Amino acid sequence: TVLVVDFGAQYAQLIARRVREARVYSEIVPSTMPVAEMLAKDPKAIILSGGPSSVYEEGAPGIDRALFEAGVPVFGMCYGFQLMAVTLGGRVDNTGAREYGRTPLAVSKSGSTLFEGTPDNQSVWMSHGDACSAAPEGFTVTASTDVVPVAAFENDEKKLYGVQYHPEVMHSTHGQQILEHFLYRGAGLAPSWTTGNIVEEQVAAIREQVGDKRAICGLSGGVDSAVAAALVQKAIGSQLTCVYVDHGLMRKGETEQVEKDFVAATGVQLKVVDAQERFLNALAGVSDPETKRKIIGREFIRVFEQAQAEIIAEGGADVAFLVQGTLYPDVVESGGGTGTANIKSHHNVGGLPDDIEFELVEPLRQLFKDEVRMVGQELGLPDEIVQRQPFPGPGLGIRIVGEVTKERLDLLREADAIARHELTAAGLDREIWQCPVVLLADVRSVGVQGDGRTYGHPIVLRPVSSEDAMTADWTRMPYEVLGRISTRITNEVPDVNRVVLDCTSKPPGTIEWE
Ligand code: XMP
Repeated sequence: TVLVVDFGAQYAQLIARRVREARVYSEIVPSTMPVAEMLAKDPKAIILSGGPSSVYEEGAPGIDRALFEAGVPVFGMCYGFQLMAVTLGGRVDNTGAREYGRTPLAVSKSGSTLFEGTPDNQSVWMSHGDACSAAPEGFTVTASTDVVPVAAFENDEKKLYGVQYHPEVMHSTHGQQILEHFLYRGAGLAPSWTTGNIVEEQVAAIREQVGDKRAICGLSGGVDSAVAAALVQKAIGSQLTCVYVDHGLMRKGETEQVEKDFVAATGVQLKVVDAQERFLNALAGVSDPETKRKIIGREFIRVFEQAQAEIIAEGGADVAFLVQGTLYPDVVESGGGTGTANIKSHHNVGGLPDDIEFELVEPLRQLFKDEVRMVGQELGLPDEIVQRQPFPGPGLGIRIVGEVTKERLDLLREADAIARHELTAAGLDREIWQCPVVLLADVRSVGVQGDGRTYGHPIVLRPVSSEDAMTADWTRMPYEVLGRISTRITNEVPDVNRVVLDCTSKPPGTIEWE
């Protein structure tokens, strides 16, 4: 394991992904974790991430010197670099030498483990106010910029490395190579983390956890629950029953797809529960997004408990486990022990009630979305399932801004079906990560149709491009396609007289509106 120590910005996740792209397993830990605890995880290398603080600020996160003395190779980036510098006796000052964005870096490669085989001049992504003016004793300075004399240093003997910039971002042209040099040359690791190992490891872990008990798995039709179910099915076969809750918040045609395509692909035992009334009743009168998410999460569990009771009553053995397709970004974004802010309660993590009666099986908890897709492929799931765009567990319930009602759901389902159809027809499914279609149910605007005045609701299109949903940009999709979607929705969906485009990146906007 490579530990990525998170100093509180968005960088740690990206670093962890990049390490895995180098086929080395990585995990994120909060910077507040005691060093002894980090070392107890027996890491083969440690990476210190960037962060928003200044090393001299009061209350700025620090790191115990022992981390650098344990014989574990360490790579500091940005804040992590500066922290390494000051902790080991170098100097970091607020020199006014700020650098933000793309910056030319001059590299001195003689004897450098990180930069060997890369160009003398390369473009890197900087984001710092303080600067390192003297490297700690025993370190060689291996790069500089016009503004900072010490932009990278190495102590090859002690296996300590640092760079002032962000090698994990795309704009650092040789960033991935430098990270790989640290992992392979500096830390002596081999690129051996593959989807084959993930499947093997998870199958073994699931068998061990579940034993001869039974498990149920909630299927949503989405990629994550499908891959989780397929993994567990591979591990424990007929001890698994999948439950599909039709909560009425699904998109058009989705229920049929799960009932037919998924079962055909995997051969799982499937139980379909019609819970539309129940969810609508529970959501009646609620417009607050977090409350909606909590209610949906809670009702899900209740329905599962009922399904469990029924399966037991039908003569099955003890159902003790609940399989969930929780992903690593869900865990981290829900504040899963990393000290980062709780941005939203994802329904399968933070939204769980306290009195849950199942033990959870979460075989995707350590994986990023692209890894989940690779695992799905490895398990032989068809492309239509594995490459499907993400859809949130709370479904259309969090795509209606305002109260959720049957009428509004039907209306949104129609609009969503039109948008999806046109995007697919235009061949945009790969380019667009996902395109939430949102109904602003509490907003009305004046329009004119035929000869009459209308006073209807707007529909928002939110097409985004992303690698992992952690960050996203709005997709610059062709005007003609936007025009076709707009015309069709306003013509075909009653009570909708306006279609608007959400052109906000993430951050600052999240992908979903709630
Ligand atoms: P946000 O809106 O946080 O969404 O930018 C990031 C990704 O997560 C999906 N999403 C969810 N998925 N349960 C899920 O399984 C949820 O509660 C949930 N909320 C958001 C969203 O569609 C996007 O892909």
